[in-house]
Amino acid sequence: MATNFVIEGLKAEIEGKEILKGINLSMKGGEIHAIMGPNGTGKSTLASALMGHPKYEVTGGSVTLNGEDVLEMEVDERARAGMFLAMQYPSEIAGVTNSDFLRSAINARREEGSEISLIKFIRQMEGKMKELEMNPEFAHRYLNEGFSGGEKKRNEILQMMLLDPSLVILDEIDSGLDIDALRIVANGVNAMKSEDRGFLIITHYQRLLNYIKPDFVHVMMQGRIVKSGGPELAERLEAEGYDWVKEELGIEDETVGQEA
Ligand SMILES: Nc1ncnc2c1ncn2[C@@H]1O[C@H](COP(=O)(O)OP(=O)(O)OP(=O)(O)O)[C@@H](O)[C@H]1O
Ligand SMILES: [Mg+2]
Repeated sequence: MATNFVIEGLKAEIEGKEILKGINLSMKGGEIHAIMGPNGTGKSTLASALMGHPKYEVTGGSVTLNGEDVLEMEVDERARAGMFLAMQYPSEIAGVTNSDFLRSAINARREEGSEISLIKFIRQMEGKMKELEMNPEFAHRYLNEGFSGGEKKRNEILQMMLLDPSLVILDEIDSGLDIDALRIVANGVNAMKSEDRGFLIITHYQRLLNYIKPDFVHVMMQGRIVKSGGPELAERLEAEGYDWVKEELGIEDETVGQEA
């Protein structure tokens, strides 16, 4: 089924502070949308709210994936519905090996009784790790524990590849990656491009978008999408920064949640 993801007027707050002030975004399978914007403008909050992070209270708007009401779903139901988030700061979980975590995550998306066989899982995991040029030892290490910044990001992409989601949100997947890792991660994403899958890619840098060509670029400020365009918008931001956008829109402080 082709993916159809629609966010309308999404508002969310944390500890009584409104951070998302009405987000509108609609995307279809096969599309890559980039979200850019200065620090502290609500990009990661949007990612967390979409995935159902319990700290963020949605106070208005709607989110649907293929017509289904996402906001009604628990986090695990969102994952089962095909949503995936690669976090800006992946958590370390001591005592759970990476491979156990990955297998549980895959099985959590399957019906009881149709779990992936161990052999098949290992074959898949090893294949994807090879594509990502990851050392096989990472399968047996505790999840993200002591992983370098770049190793964590690569591991997020490994999860994405194995879970085969229909809506992928990548929050600063490029931060901390060296040039070679950036190319490897981008290749991983490009290989996953399909009519059945949409990508929402949060990034600060055009550099990533040289490798992963976005169809649409959105700028977030003050908890809203204030400007949208094509790839040329990202190029202009890279060259000129955000001042011209702020001037054009009469925005003085682009951040959100700092007032009072
Ligand atoms: N758990 C939280 N507790 C308190 N404040 C929060 C929390 N999460 C987000 N905020 C605040 O909401 C605002 C937006 O944060 P967010 O992480 O969404 O920004 P961002 O656009 O992702 O920034 P960056 O580019 O630096 O990653 C910030 O002022 C941040 O401090
Ligand atoms: Mg962020």
